[in-house]
Amino acid sequence: MLSPATKNTIGTGNNKPVVLIVDDEYCVLRALCRLISPQEFIAVWVAGEQQGLEVLKDQPKRIRIIIIDLKSSGMGGAGFLQHARHLAPHAAVLITAPLGPFLYQGGNFYELSGPNLKQDINGILLSITQKLNNGAASQKKTIRKPELKERFGAIIGRSESINAIYRLLDHLQGSSSTVLIQGESGTGKELIAQTIHQTSPRESRPFVAINCGAIPANLIESELFGHERGAFTTAVSQRKGKFEVAEGGTLFLDEVGELDRELQVKLLRVLQEKEFQRVGGNVTYKTDVRIVAATSQDLNQVVQAGHFRDDLFYRLNVIPVHVPPLRERKADIPLLLDHFFNKTAKEMGRCLPDLSEEILTALTDYRYPGNVRELANIVERLLTICPDGKISLRDLPKEVREEAAHAPQAATVLNALPDGGACLSQVEKELILKTLEITSGNKSAAARMIGITRRRLYLRLSQYGLASA
Ligand SMILES: Nc1ncnc2c1ncn2[C@@H]1O[C@H](COP(=O)(O)OP(=O)(O)OP(=O)(O)O)[C@@H](O)[C@H]1O
Ligand SMILES: [Mg+2]
Repeated sequence: MLSPATKNTIGTGNNKPVVLIVDDEYCVLRALCRLISPQEFIAVWVAGEQQGLEVLKDQPKRIRIIIIDLKSSGMGGAGFLQHARHLAPHAAVLITAPLGPFLYQGGNFYELSGPNLKQDINGILLSITQKLNNGAASQKKTIRKPELKERFGAIIGRSESINAIYRLLDHLQGSSSTVLIQGESGTGKELIAQTIHQTSPRESRPFVAINCGAIPANLIESELFGHERGAFTTAVSQRKGKFEVAEGGTLFLDEVGELDRELQVKLLRVLQEKEFQRVGGNVTYKTDVRIVAATSQDLNQVVQAGHFRDDLFYRLNVIPVHVPPLRERKADIPLLLDHFFNKTAKEMGRCLPDLSEEILTALTDYRYPGNVRELANIVERLLTICPDGKISLRDLPKEVREEAAHAPQAATVLNALPDGGACLSQVEKELILKTLEITSGNKSAAARMIGITRRRLYLRLSQYGLASA
């Protein structure tokens, strides 16, 4: 039940925007309440996620901004976000996280790089309300200078590698350079290629994709360059190839490492001379197409093994983009889970499920060999088999359950223990540092991995003089 005091605070504030601060058991955000200007805002502090949801249920329209900490207690930041978004879809959520605050609004994440939350809380809140007001009046996006996350919003993530990709995409805007994207299957190579196209001057021209590994070798030349009628037995009519269809736009050459040697020579010639002929034709066509190529192989190794021409590799590898597998950027997993649960539940007309801490941990810790595609499929499967929104451990795919049950055994971790033994506090310190490295500094996730509370982790950090880690 909403306390009468809270109700009163919200009620008395005429039309000032209400900022709801949802704290956890460590009360890390309590001090913020006192820093928020009463002339501009009504600040309401509650001591936990459950109370926060009650305020949202009671006053969904009055709450403009919610401030939470990305944490491991209660439902965890991601679980709370799902409910909050459902109850108050117009509110912006300011999430405080170890690597700096970020904003979640209307399904997008915006990085608030620069400002210090405590020093500049009123400035931040003002720019958010301004953005919300502008958003209501028009569709224009005007939160200061649009942040990188905003401009490349389709690519969800907050790990250092995704931020590096945002920065690269930022530099690429306005350019037509050839790009080579390398990464395991399902890491988002095509999504990145589409984003490169959409943020380029070629945006209004076609984006055409061709999977060089999925088309038989004898057909690929005609797929790329087109053919004249009668060029080969099945060529009953003339046909344009992808280069012509993509004219002025972007051609995405997926699995480019699968092209056979003969085609590699032809492609290289087209890239160098910017002209081609259809199969069976003798007219030379000029081409203006930006090439974005992708491969899930290590193309360097394929070159060294002699299966891919090095001159073509250098032609393609003008701007290299490496997309790491999801297991190497675990900080992205909670955001991706949140994104796909929301998106897929909406598409399927399902309510958002309640995710227990146990389920969230299993889903966050899983290694996802199929990367983001596998994560999206798991979410869809859970929403399909649990229509009532209640997900239990046995609903998770076998491999997720098995991995959760076989979290690394201590014996494996200690394989390299020297004969002379090791000092326990040294091992603990190293373990904490290494785990923080894996979680990109996310202390909640690190505490969860080690199996201690967040409070205990903070205690150890200060004990070992690592408070700023
Ligand atoms: N960072 C991300 N944010 C949101 N969605 C993502 C992200 N990365 C991948 N996806 C989604 O995951 C799915 C797989 O991504 P995509 O097809 O781009 O991967 P890929 O690397 O091209 O895979 P493959 O090598 O198998 O072709 C798509 O639905 C894509 O939209
Ligand atoms: Mg692909």
